Amino acid sequence: MNESLFLRTLSGETLPKPPLWMMRQAGRYLPEYRELRAKAGGFLELCYNPEWAAEVTLQPIRRFGFDAAILFSDILVIPHALGQKLWFAQGEGPRLEPVADAVRLGEIRNEIDQDVLAPVYETVRRVKAALPAGTALIGFCGAPWTVATYMVAGRGTPDQGPAKDLFQRDPELFARLIDRLVVNSAAYLNAQIEAGVDAVQIFDSWAGSLGPEDFKRWSIEPTRRIVALVRARHPHAKIIGFPRGAGAGIPSYVRETGIDAVGLETEIDRGFVREAIQPIVPVQGHLDPQLLRAGGPELDREIDAIRAAFGAGPFVFNLGHGILPDTPIAHVERLVELVRA
Ligand code: CP3
Repeated sequence: MNESLFLRTLSGETLPKPPLWMMRQAGRYLPEYRELRAKAGGFLELCYNPEWAAEVTLQPIRRFGFDAAILFSDILVIPHALGQKLWFAQGEGPRLEPVADAVRLGEIRNEIDQDVLAPVYETVRRVKAALPAGTALIGFCGAPWTVATYMVAGRGTPDQGPAKDLFQRDPELFARLIDRLVVNSAAYLNAQIEAGVDAVQIFDSWAGSLGPEDFKRWSIEPTRRIVALVRARHPHAKIIGFPRGAGAGIPSYVRETGIDAVGLETEIDRGFVREAIQPIVPVQGHLDPQLLRAGGPELDREIDAIRAAFGAGPFVFNLGHGILPDTPIAHVERLVELVRA
């Protein structure tokens, strides 16, 4: 029997207490992260330094004893390894030199430069060697749609408008970009698995901005192909999909992609999850990060409500999106206490 509660849940087991981890669990709400981040200078310098990246991956495990660690990196290392210029402006988030026409697409590489990503794989090996027994290690990539929204706009956008404009104006060009991301994201996940991760998560943070047809074409289909390419090399790979905001589209996403577990956004209806999602796949989620930041009796009640709603089936406790940087550590401690109670 596998001793990791997290991996047992991904295999479909229902446990008396759900395993727990948090999206963005290594990050700015931790003083020990801010200290190392300052020493590294830049965010990418931190991502590409195996000693430092391994250390920040392990920090939340030491402090809270979560059931899984998530590799410290970013979804945008894929465009970076394809040769797109990437930088993180202080306090402003990611910036890239936009790829929004055939000329620009022709200028980036067909295949990722594995030398750029070699430090990420070294981080995986170091973390794997340092983790306590029973703590799983999660690798990840961005889904092609979400990564493309940043590649095309050159930054985060409120409505993913530039990427939508591109697929409406020139669907063939957009499909070429997506194809390139499919093949390279699968190669990236396969290399992470070979370096030692126990499971991988595909983050489709902007899935919710697509209508049903576009969701099928630009989110489900590329994700299905990534899953197939990973399983072709690693038939037993554990893959979590997180099509954030897909709501009623999640059951088709699950069936068509073949993922092992699905992440739930905060906003999803719990009755719908119980009736239409949890019977077909283990679920992970979905505490509101704003409520975790706010704390108090409302937080306690919500944690209990989520456990009551999903505890009768395979369930991993998590947030509905990443933890907010100004979340008090005491609230995370309370979360751990209640989920383990
Ligand atoms: O702890 C973990 O979850 C692992 C590390 C991780 C990061 N980014 C570190 C990070 C993971 C899994 C990601 C995924 C990621 N990155 C996503 C998908 C999940 C989501 O949040 O929707 C996206 C869209 C990105 C792109 C990205 N990276 C943005 C939009 C930003 C700026 C927003 C922010 O929080 O500052 C980043 C930067 C980033 N990635 C930080 C961290 C810890 C903050 C950078 C810093 O410390 O200065």
